[in-house]
Amino acid sequence: MRDGEEQAVVVGIKDVARHAGVSSGTVSNTLNRPDVVSPLTRAKVLKAIKELGYVPDESARLLRSGESRLLAALVLDLANPFFVDVVRGAELAAQEAGLNLITCNSAQKAESEASHLEMLAQQRVRGVLLCPVDDDSGRSMRSMARSMLPHVLIDSDPSDHAACSVLVDDVRGGQLAAQHLLEMGHRHIALVNGPMRLAPCRDRERGVRAVMETSTERAQLTVLSVEGLDVTAGREAGHRLLEVADRPTAVTCVNDLTALGVLQAMTAAGVRVPDEMAIVGYDDIEFASAAAVPLSSVRQPTEQLGRTAARLLIEETDATRSADHQHQKVTFFPELVVRESSRLQR
Ligand code: RIB
Repeated sequence: MRDGEEQAVVVGIKDVARHAGVSSGTVSNTLNRPDVVSPLTRAKVLKAIKELGYVPDESARLLRSGESRLLAALVLDLANPFFVDVVRGAELAAQEAGLNLITCNSAQKAESEASHLEMLAQQRVRGVLLCPVDDDSGRSMRSMARSMLPHVLIDSDPSDHAACSVLVDDVRGGQLAAQHLLEMGHRHIALVNGPMRLAPCRDRERGVRAVMETSTERAQLTVLSVEGLDVTAGREAGHRLLEVADRPTAVTCVNDLTALGVLQAMTAAGVRVPDEMAIVGYDDIEFASAAAVPLSSVRQPTEQLGRTAARLLIEETDATRSADHQHQKVTFFPELVVRESSRLQR
């Protein structure tokens, strides 16, 4: 050690016990089972912890108890406010249960999803909330199974996979968007949709097609596929949309980010929204209502999605309740929020 450098002093549980005038067991109970310690003693111990700057050794506690207090969320795209809002709900539920939650981003890549799950298994997290990259080929479910971690699926419910799932009825969501545009008088509607390996994309398209095919009015559907589910992908789809022969007069998008990209492309091309092109998004993220032309959107109950997924995972992994746990599928319903981007102009 060079002159002048202070050596870091590691404060242990015994130092705290001595400082507070209690046993090491009382310090441990204050941290892990505060309900069995009197408020006065708890206050003394917490005061000693603060004064000494003691940092509990979570890995040691985990080895002793075998029960992690850390949940994980592994989502498709942390740049998408939809996932941030879902994670926020999950984090609130975790904190209310005295747990913490870390968030990882698969960036829609199966390899990234697999390596994150491997890392989370090595870290012995309590369980994972997973928005799968590919629940169609089974690749995500195989990665999840290899990790052997308890998990709850969000936005996915593969029939051959035993786990809790929390999702929104995206078929209904697609129907709401298409029905609204037909009611606004549109007869050539475009759908900007993401990859079919994602359940929300498959289901939203099913809903749109169901309405278009049963419409009493002759209506045409043009589908434009995008790989990314962000503003850039939406802008690129918007440029393609402008090239479509007998151009559609309305477009429903897989999510708000792509819808905002389409809006950008229309504005840049001088196409008036909604007069010449009506636009509907999906998720109702905060930016939807704040857009230059406030965006109509199919709203998802994002905080409820997150809270419910976390609650199910906590129940499943709670040592006192897991024996009675039965996997559940919880489905929420979307609602259409109509704003200027698709409203009939009087
Ligand atoms: O998971 C696909 C899409 O569903 C995401 O982009 C998110 O917006 C949700 O709506």
